[in-house]
Amino acid sequence: MTDWTSRFAARGQALKPSAIRATAKFAEQPGAISFASGSPNPSLFPYDAITQAMTAIMADPRRRGEALQYGASEGYRPLREFIERYLRDAGAQVALDMITVTNGSQQALEFLAKLFVEPGDRIVVTNPTYLGALQAFGLFEPVYACVPTHQAGIDLEALEREFSQGAKFMYLMPDFGNPSGITLSLEERLKVLELSRRHKVLIVEDQAYEQLRFAPKALPSMPALDTSHPAGSSGRSTVNVIHAGTFSKSLVPGLRVGWVVAPPAVTQKLVSIKQASDLHGGQLNQMIVHDVATAILRDHTERLRGAYRRRRDLMLRALARHMPQEVAWNEPGGGMFVWLSLPAPLDAAELQMRAIRDENVVFVPGAPFFADSSGKATLRLSFSSVAEDAIAPGIERLARAVRAAMAAEGEAAPVAAARARSP
Ligand SMILES: Cc1ncc(COP(=O)(O)O)c(C=O)c1O
Repeated sequence: MTDWTSRFAARGQALKPSAIRATAKFAEQPGAISFASGSPNPSLFPYDAITQAMTAIMADPRRRGEALQYGASEGYRPLREFIERYLRDAGAQVALDMITVTNGSQQALEFLAKLFVEPGDRIVVTNPTYLGALQAFGLFEPVYACVPTHQAGIDLEALEREFSQGAKFMYLMPDFGNPSGITLSLEERLKVLELSRRHKVLIVEDQAYEQLRFAPKALPSMPALDTSHPAGSSGRSTVNVIHAGTFSKSLVPGLRVGWVVAPPAVTQKLVSIKQASDLHGGQLNQMIVHDVATAILRDHTERLRGAYRRRRDLMLRALARHMPQEVAWNEPGGGMFVWLSLPAPLDAAELQMRAIRDENVVFVPGAPFFADSSGKATLRLSFSSVAEDAIAPGIERLARAVRAAMAAEGEAAPVAAARARSP
């Protein structure tokens, strides 16, 4: 039999299956309640608007040819113009020659690593960070410098220490990050930018969840705050921020339309990478996203915010009611995730097995989101896809599993305290 492993490049040998996908089979067991999936809720997809847009494109003799033909590597121009307006409305000084459409923002992350990272280069990430970013960057064999986070944000002293040692870039999710749900305050954003300028470390901002904020007003994005960000090819060279965004959370993920905004010199390279990788994103998909976003994005994201906020509130109420007081969690201001810390010495991977076996409830342990494999006592709960009426029973089951794990560890389970807190 062929020994494939010895033939793989080192980066291929290091590839591992996603820890999240490994939990999917448990979520399909009869009667299971799953907080594992980080996918948007399909009941909220704008089916009618997508059907109408597609039908109209295919009925138009000019547009249907364009939709089914090869397209530009940088993306469908009207969609890039839409993204430019969208970001400008949010205060970022972007221009058309800074925007590349990608197959989801995931592709943008991979392209950026492909462009910037040599084996052994340092990338600064928060602990925890988005697992998909670690996968995208990992192919280029970086060394990760991990910066701790706390319930309210990021450890800025640790960040400065890491920046002072130099790095190719920092990957940052300022808004309701995956998995932690943390949002950086305005002061923290400004401080991160100031440090990045001082130590000449590029910031790669991933704003995948920004549109799913529950507060009426958004905090400024990093490019909006980066006053050195040039308007297109104006020739300024002190840019500190590259920005990745997506329609996956605000419309649908299945059409695979995201974007990356970078200075023109970087964008030219990204377009060449796009060409080499897949020539361009699907024209029809980009045209549908353009038409649907133009028609409904504002109202639709309003509706999504209401729906996800309701689910978050149900989850927070259930956690307060059922969890032992030793368990801590955050209250995310948007996005899809609540992040839990278990009391020592509990291990979330062991708890996951117990919760599946005894309670038929599924979640994702936190450790895979830590580039240094720490975080064993943390876990991610997603409120996006679970049915509303399953949230409270699911949390009650999970809390039972936590208590059983605490009892098994010889800790006195504080049932009395939890009861006392229950209404
Ligand atoms: C933080 C973050 N960034 C990027 C992505 C990739 O999304 P897409 O490629 O669908 O735009 C995801 C997907 O879940 C994510 O959670």
